[in-house]
Amino acid sequence: MDRGSHGEELGRIIDGAAIARRIRDKLAGEVEALAASGVVPGLAVILVGDDPASAVYVASKERACAEAGMNGLTIRLPATTTQRDLLDQVRALNDDPSIHGILVQMPLPKQIDPDTVIRAIDPTKDVDGFHPINVGKLLIGEEDGFAPCTPAGVQELLVQSGVNTLGKDIVLIGRSNIVGKPMAALLLQDHLGANATVTICHRYTRDLAAHTRRADILIAAAGRPKLVTADMVKQGVVVIDVGINRVSDASAPKGYRLVGDVDFDAVRPLASQITPVPKGVGPMTIAMLMKNTVRAAAMHAARVSALRGVAIGEMA
Ligand code: GUN
Repeated sequence: MDRGSHGEELGRIIDGAAIARRIRDKLAGEVEALAASGVVPGLAVILVGDDPASAVYVASKERACAEAGMNGLTIRLPATTTQRDLLDQVRALNDDPSIHGILVQMPLPKQIDPDTVIRAIDPTKDVDGFHPINVGKLLIGEEDGFAPCTPAGVQELLVQSGVNTLGKDIVLIGRSNIVGKPMAALLLQDHLGANATVTICHRYTRDLAAHTRRADILIAAAGRPKLVTADMVKQGVVVIDVGINRVSDASAPKGYRLVGDVDFDAVRPLASQITPVPKGVGPMTIAMLMKNTVRAAAMHAARVSALRGVAIGEMA
């Protein structure tokens, strides 16, 4: 148990970087086994334009693929790319048998409609879990789809940190399609790391603090620096901070630093466990992307061998 400068007990830090590392090491073994059977998992990432934060994420995905022995392809397109050109690119990847996962980095430039692009991705290669087919499968608890990587990573963090979610009051701040809504769907299912009572708060929620103070587990994904303060949580709460906000800081080497949606120093003494920013949820997102891609490749290999079985059966 860490203690603060006045001897007070501090919440245990959930080390997302270490948990993600363990997952990636295990995946590297699975990649090796798949490769030995002739299938090297392949992930294609499309980056349109030059948003600096997106460029950083895409570079880390590239490194993670290479390190796990996967086939990583990054397609960088100019900010002026038309929707038609991007859709052509997605369709070519749908038809490419060496690619098992496709991710189009968001946000996209204004001339491109993200929903049209997401719907163009083959749902069996949609390792982001954004296609309506995968969103529907997640909601009804069908497990052969893909769950979005950030909420899947949060659930894995809770499980790996020994947090029992069954019957707990979990309060989410944020209702995005990437985090809040799929997070709620994951936590509602009838299995390990779920079975919770879930509340989703958003910008029109009246008296946010009244909800967050009831939370056994609080998950902040609002994209607002230090939105959650000490007076908004109860003693013993588990806090998961999904926020990654750049705030200017002249003393930092890059002129900015990353802060979460939670005032970490103020909230930690009240929490039983808490994720830091960075090195909390962020590394888990990439680990889950790798996991989804390896699973996509394994499912592809299983479909191919089932088809071969049918073909051989027909010949006999
Ligand atoms: N931009 C921010 N988060 C994500 C993500 O999880 N997937 C994609 N494709 N773009 C993002």
